Amino acid sequence: MVNLDKYSSIFIANWKLNGNSSFLKDYYEKLKVNSNNCTIICSPSIYLKSLKRNNESLFCGAQDVSSYKEGAYTGELSASMLRDNNIDFCLVGHSERRQYFAETNNIVHIKSSNLIEKNIIPVICIGETLEQKEKNLTEEILSTQIKDSIPNLANHHNALIAYEPVWAIGTGLTPTLDEINQVHEQIKNCDTKFRNFRVLYGGSVKSSNSNEITELSQVDGCLIGGASLKVDEFNTIIS
Ligand code: PGA
Repeated sequence: MVNLDKYSSIFIANWKLNGNSSFLKDYYEKLKVNSNNCTIICSPSIYLKSLKRNNESLFCGAQDVSSYKEGAYTGELSASMLRDNNIDFCLVGHSERRQYFAETNNIVHIKSSNLIEKNIIPVICIGETLEQKEKNLTEEILSTQIKDSIPNLANHHNALIAYEPVWAIGTGLTPTLDEINQVHEQIKNCDTKFRNFRVLYGGSVKSSNSNEITELSQVDGCLIGGASLKVDEFNTIIS
C-alpha cells in the first residue's frame, strides 16, 4: 500500500469518460510531477496500464471497482484485478456514480472494504447537493455518508476522503474558503477515528484557486476533474 505519510499534499486527476491514446501520450510527455506531493491519475481503466511509472510520486487510480469479488458479472472489474495491475487508488462514491449508476452508501462501503483488503486506497467521495446546502443539511448529510459508506477497517493509512459538494462539480462554483475549511474540520471531527484522515477538496478546482484551497489548514489536497484534462493547467495545480 502506498505510504501516504511521505507526501505533504495529494492531487488526484479524475479524467472521467475522456481521453484517448494520443491524448495520453501527449499528457505524459508534458506532465511534471512534484515529488513532495502524491499525484494520482484516474484515467479510464483501459488506459491505466499505459501510465509511465517513471516517477515514484506518480500513481494510477481507477474510477470505479465492482462490488463483487468474482463471478458472472459481465463488464465488471474486481479489486483483485486492479491490484494485479498495480493500481494503488480507486475513486468510490463519486457523485456521478451515485447519481447515474445508483451507487448507495452501502455499495460504497462494500467497494471500499474490498479495495482495502487488496491494499488499494479507496478515495471515498462525499458531498451535499445544493438543495441540501440551502436547507442547512450539509453536516447531517455528510455524517450519514461517512457513517454508512466508510468501513470500520478504514483508517488514515489505508483510505482517503474527498469532500465534493455536488453543486460545485463542473459548475465553476465553489464554497468560500472558510466554508471549505469548516466542512473539512467537521468531517475530521465527526468521530475521533477520522481525526487524522486526509481529506481532499473537489469541485471546480483550477489553477487560479488551487493554491488558496490547498493552503487551508484542514485541506490535504484536491480532486480535480475538468482542469485535470489540460496538462499545463494540471501542472500548475500540482507544482
Ligand atoms: P470538476 O470535477 O473539477 O470538473 O468540478 C471534480 C470531480 O468530479 O471530481
